[in-house]
Amino acid sequence: MRAVAVYPEKRQVSVIDHPEPKIESPSQAKIRMLEVGICGTDKEIVAFEYGTPPEGSEYLVIGHESLGEIVEVGPEVKKVKRGDLVVATVRRPCPHPECVACRAGRQDFCYTGDFFERGIKQRHGYMTELVVEDEQYLNPVPSGLRDVAVLVEPLTIAEKALAQFWDIQTRLPWTTPGVGKGHHVVVLGAGPVGLLGAMAFKVAGFEVTVYSRSTSHEEKDDIVTAIGANYIAAETHDVEQMAKSVGRIDVVYEAVGASSLAFEVVKHLSPNGVFIFTGVPGRKGPIEVDTDFIMRDMVLNNQLIYGTVNAPPASFAAAIRDMGVFVDRWPDAVKSIITGRYPIDKALEPLTGKTGGIKNILTIAQ
Ligand code: BGC
Ligand code: ZN
Repeated sequence: MRAVAVYPEKRQVSVIDHPEPKIESPSQAKIRMLEVGICGTDKEIVAFEYGTPPEGSEYLVIGHESLGEIVEVGPEVKKVKRGDLVVATVRRPCPHPECVACRAGRQDFCYTGDFFERGIKQRHGYMTELVVEDEQYLNPVPSGLRDVAVLVEPLTIAEKALAQFWDIQTRLPWTTPGVGKGHHVVVLGAGPVGLLGAMAFKVAGFEVTVYSRSTSHEEKDDIVTAIGANYIAAETHDVEQMAKSVGRIDVVYEAVGASSLAFEVVKHLSPNGVFIFTGVPGRKGPIEVDTDFIMRDMVLNNQLIYGTVNAPPASFAAAIRDMGVFVDRWPDAVKSIITGRYPIDKALEPLTGKTGGIKNILTIAQ
């Protein structure tokens, strides 16, 4: 069967013939891949800056943002049946007995760093025709979400961030977990992670402002307006002006991976505010940051910065629920996040080229 593979040693990316997987344990299911999303991580892997093949393999089949259909189940599978749509999680536990996170099924908080990630780190991914996976890593999706469910995985970033946000903010006795009313969030970046995050915060009741440096922002601006959020372009407002026009910034959800911008915005966080990092910046060398100012402000205002990566099954469930709400409230806006669909033979175009748009995906089967 066909698969998109990266050969880090040979510095090669191609569509290859990859052996078809078989069900090998009673709790596994076989999935026919329908769509697979492309994100910045995939682009880094095809640029040979990230990603590791499984032990003993020359190549890594990439792809971690999945949507598939169950075609076969092992005798002990209970959660899914033939014909069900599923989105698979990405990370698998490390082998170390002392890693309490992995042992508790929370490999998204792995201590050792020896976790595996499908399509990223030592496990083949989803940009291929058939995949076998244990049912515990599969999340059933209602058939009504067929068009947009490939966006579930990038939405889990916001869902895990939000779950932690509520855990953290219940330090303030007047916070009701899940109720964002009266809180103002600034989302940095209007890529897929930013836009999906803006939608998730909106559904939770937050007032939402998206601040973006993108210069081709019409389609993004439309999506932001459609969901009832406010769009501010960096072209017309510097950070100072943006902060002034927003007023109180209770939360910043960073989704660009630009550290200089992030640390500019940190200075405008309100008392008791929380700054959430989700972006992974490329190493560009040191920049100047006013650390005394930031540290002093953080202490005197009870502020907090946290980074977040990967997502547990609960965040996939939350993303699937929220995606249903998005589709009810803003069907066109959600769909328009997907701006390009490519067949597997043309995968290298969106992976290596400058195809633009918001979210490009591969259509592997209909
Ligand atoms: C994926 C995460 C993964 C991270 C780091 C992201 O693109 O969505 O699941 O943990 O990359 O490898
Ligand atoms: Zn990703």
